[in-house]
Amino acid sequence: MSNHPLERTAHRAGVCGPSPRSPGVGRRSPGAFGTIGGQARLTQLIYYVAVSLDGFIAPPDGSVDWLAPYNAGGEDYGFGEFYKNVDALIEGSKTYEQALTFGEWPHPGKPCWVVTSREFESKQPEVHFTSLTPAELIRHVSAQGHKRIWLVGGSQLAASFRAAGLITEYVLSVIPVFLGSGRPLFARGGAVETLKLVESKPYPSDLVQLRYVRAGSAEQGAPADRSPAARARVG
Ligand SMILES: NC(=O)c1ccc[n+]([C@@H]2O[C@H](COP(=O)([O-])OP(=O)(O)OC[C@H]3O[C@@H](n4cnc5c(N)ncnc54)[C@H](OP(=O)(O)O)[C@@H]3O)[C@@H](O)[C@H]2O)c1
Repeated sequence: MSNHPLERTAHRAGVCGPSPRSPGVGRRSPGAFGTIGGQARLTQLIYYVAVSLDGFIAPPDGSVDWLAPYNAGGEDYGFGEFYKNVDALIEGSKTYEQALTFGEWPHPGKPCWVVTSREFESKQPEVHFTSLTPAELIRHVSAQGHKRIWLVGGSQLAASFRAAGLITEYVLSVIPVFLGSGRPLFARGGAVETLKLVESKPYPSDLVQLRYVRAGSAEQGAPADRSPAARARVG
């Protein structure tokens, strides 16, 4: 396993170590997000992910080999700058478990919440396990002062946050490969949503990175939690 940013994105990025499971941290409270002094906080939730040209984030076996050709040359595709500017991570339990197989925990000092209905044991104080709904979790993380959150993935987790209308930005590293099948960008559908392209950057490797925000969001803050789907969990 290399330490390349694309692989970190697909796998190691989600590696969060151990810690006791967060209790049902902060049950539902007024407002869509954490509030401090009565002021609604603006929270950015960014789904930063590598995706094949036909819309998959991993092949059926979940491996990362398909990303290897794009590791050459030391290009980090802006990951270093992105990572420096996120202050918390949220990821699904399968992405977390896969990341653990690579051994090294890559996110020292970055608080990480792993969404799961199961019990995990962890040794990393930055890692929390939670069964909160997406809306509850964003409120909880936001209330702790985190403004830019990386939604690491995978498909199931991203689907539940999109269904709840909580993702404010998408950074898609489009890999010029047809995988044919595998884990889709989102595990299931959701409401129709229109996005605004705010940046696109081609790389010599033929990868194109696209940055979209929700139309009308002006790149700031997450929208209100106004959908019943906000409480939906993904199983
Ligand atoms: N290309 C990339 O950049 C990239 C990035 C990240 C991941 N990936 C790939 O994605 C694959 C894993 O994705 P995946 O879709 O199979 O799994 P996942 O989203 O990582 O994890 C799914 C699990 O997370 C828990 N979960 C998710 N949403 C939940 C919710 N709203 N409420 C409660 N629990 C929730 C459930 O765990 P429990 O069963 O424990 O309750 C569920 O089974 C891996 O192959 C990985 O390599 C690729």
